[in-house]
Amino acid sequence: MSNRYVQSFKILDKKELCPNTYWYEIEAPFIARKIEAGQFIIMKPFKKSERIPLSICGWDREKGTLHIIVMSAGKTTRDLNEMQVGDCLSDIVGPLGQRSHIDKYHDACVLIGGGYGTGAVIPTARDLKALGNRVIGIVGARNKDLLLMVDELKEVCDEVYLTTNDGSIGIEGFVTHALEKILEKEDISYVLAVGPVPMMMAVTKLTEPKGINTWVSLNAIMVDGTGMCGTCRVTVGGETKFACFHGPDFDGHKVDFDELMKRQKMYVEVEKKALEAVGK
Ligand SMILES: Cc1cc2nc3c(=O)[nH]c(=O)nc-3n(C[C@H](O)[C@H](O)[C@H](O)COP(=O)(O)OP(=O)(O)OC[C@H]3O[C@@H](n4cnc5c(N)ncnc54)[C@H](O)[C@@H]3O)c2cc1C
Ligand code: FES
Repeated sequence: MSNRYVQSFKILDKKELCPNTYWYEIEAPFIARKIEAGQFIIMKPFKKSERIPLSICGWDREKGTLHIIVMSAGKTTRDLNEMQVGDCLSDIVGPLGQRSHIDKYHDACVLIGGGYGTGAVIPTARDLKALGNRVIGIVGARNKDLLLMVDELKEVCDEVYLTTNDGSIGIEGFVTHALEKILEKEDISYVLAVGPVPMMMAVTKLTEPKGINTWVSLNAIMVDGTGMCGTCRVTVGGETKFACFHGPDFDGHKVDFDELMKRQKMYVEVEKKALEAVGK
C-alpha cells in the first residue's frame, strides 16, 4: 500500500461576489501552513484541465484552508466556477513565487486592487499594517456592483477609497484618480497594484516622476509555475525574468508592459476554440 499522503482539495465554502466571480475556501493544509502574502498557487479543477495560476486572498493555517477568488475568463475558470461546495479540485501546487517585498516605511503605503486583484492585495496590506505602517486601500471597478472584497480590505487598512467608472459609488473614474487625490494630501513610500495590465501601467506612470517605490503583480501566462518552461518570460529592467519564480511582484517602473500585453494574447485563437468547444 502507498504511504503517499493524498490531499482532497475539497471546496468547503463558496460565495458569489458578483456575476461570474466567486470566492472559495479550499482544504489544502500543506499549502496553508507555508503560504505568504504575494505568493500564488497553480491548480486544475479536473484531471484533464489546463493548469491555471491563482492568487491567494487569505488562509487559515489552523484549519488548513486557502481562500481564492475566481473570475470566469475562459474554459478552465468557467469549469472551476461551476464546481460546488463538497466537490474536490483535482490538483493544487504551491506556494509559488516570492512573497511581497515589504518593510516598515516612513510614509504611507497604498494598495490598489482591480477585479480579483483586490483579494490579492489583502494579505500584503495585513502584513504592512502589522509592521506598523499607515495603509491606504484603493478598489476600482466599472460600477458599484462589480466592486469586490471592500469590507475585507477595510479590515486591514486605515482608509479605503472606492472608484467606479460610472460614478455609481465613490470617486468617478479610475483608481489613478484616487491615487492622485492621496498624493495631493500626503507622502507615499510604497505602492502595490494588482489588476488588469493597463491599470497597473497607469499607476506606474503616475508614481514614476515622484520616485515612489511601486510594485505590480504580473499576470503572465504560466504553465509549470517553477521557472522551468519559460512561458511566463517578462522583461524587467532590460533583463529576462520569470514571473512565476522571480515574481509575481516586480518593480513597476522597470517592467516592459508592451511585451507583457503581446505575450498575454499569444493563445487567443486557441482559447476561443476551447470556449467554442465547451459551448457545443
Ligand atoms: C500570478 C497570477 C495570479 C492570478 N490570480 C488570479 C486570481 O486570483 N483570480 C482569477 O480569477 N484569475 C487570476 N489569474 C488569471 C488566471 O490565471 C487566468 O484568468 C486563467 O488562467 C484563464 O484561464 P481560462 O482557461 O479560464 O481562460 P483562457 O481562455 O485560457 O484565457 C483567458 C485569458 O486569461 C489569460 N490566461 C490564459 N491562460 C493563462 C495562464 N495559464 N496563466 C495566466 N493567464 C492566463 C490570457 O490573457 C487569456 O487571454 C492570475 C494569473 C496569474 C499569472
Ligand atoms: S510558468 Fe514556466 S517558467 Fe514560469
